[in-house]
Amino acid sequence: MGRTVILTDDLGRGERLVRNLGGDPSLLLHDLYGDGEPPAGAALVISDVSALTSDAVLRLRRALAVARDRTTPFLALIHGNLGRGEIQATALGATRILPASAANAMLANVVATLSTGGRGADGRGGLRRCAEEARSAFAAIFRGDTAPAPAIVESGTSIVNRAIRESKVRDWLNVVAGFDDVTHRHCLTVAGLAAAFAQSLGLNDSDAHHLTKGALLHDIGKSRIPLAILNKPAPLTPAERVEMDRHPAIGHAMLINGDYDVGTLAVVRSHHEYLDGSGYPDGLRAAEIPDLVRLITICDIFAALIEARPYKAPKPVRDAYAILEAMGPRLDADLVRAFRAVAFACEAPNLRASA
Ligand SMILES: [Fe+2]
Ligand SMILES: [Fe+2]
Repeated sequence: MGRTVILTDDLGRGERLVRNLGGDPSLLLHDLYGDGEPPAGAALVISDVSALTSDAVLRLRRALAVARDRTTPFLALIHGNLGRGEIQATALGATRILPASAANAMLANVVATLSTGGRGADGRGGLRRCAEEARSAFAAIFRGDTAPAPAIVESGTSIVNRAIRESKVRDWLNVVAGFDDVTHRHCLTVAGLAAAFAQSLGLNDSDAHHLTKGALLHDIGKSRIPLAILNKPAPLTPAERVEMDRHPAIGHAMLINGDYDVGTLAVVRSHHEYLDGSGYPDGLRAAEIPDLVRLITICDIFAALIEARPYKAPKPVRDAYAILEAMGPRLDADLVRAFRAVAFACEAPNLRASA
């Protein structure tokens, strides 16, 4: 592995970053405000600049011109407003953008991917790396007791959306089907289906991001359900089912004091509601269930049907789609029809769990 040049505006913070990345001697720090130029010929360049002022951008541009050529991957770590930072980093030619607050494991994963030449979802290997990154983000989202940091959620969402733009949804499902954790597998499957659904509906980037984000977060409440129930290798007893069915309300309570929009909160709380009022936890009816929720409910049910679980085989795509259609007044018939193209694009996936 070649050397990685880290461009920083704060050497103390830069040294912490080097330590978080394992302290490897191939990691070279360069002070953006110091004398001299960064070394040329890096295998990877990382920028970790807290304030992207016009002076900092100018210095970064100069340092990047020395440290990288057109093919060198460039990871930009964003402090503060992710949207604005993303625009600036893209203008600087970033290959990958991550919030500086990303969990260390996720950051290390991305750095390992980029420094060995992985840049996107092109090809099966690239897609696998993207899925691994998305899983790292999801694991960080799912681990906490409180609302996950929005920046990590945004980052995980962007990875899934980009992967689905650059690959076939069927390939994404095949890759995530190999993950060992049932919940990781399920949420990344639902997120991939939602990203593909958004694309098939022609949603703009912002709406597609919103849909995929809701899908990624929809089962966040399961992080509080006992593992013995969550990973039980058999159907749940009635008492266990009651416990499991608390997850939408739990997830909603986790996020309500975080920085999450009402659409996302509605997805988390209401993705098990049905239009005829037979769902839970609130028994909502048609007009009370927003489109965003209806879309994700369809992806969620379809995902559960085509996934292998320790106690059931995956259903073939045709059978799973037929079950959606047979749910009649519980689901939005127009959206189920619109989902047909996405469902059949998943045909012939190998969704058997690897374990
Ligand atoms: Fe759920
Ligand atoms: Fe789900």
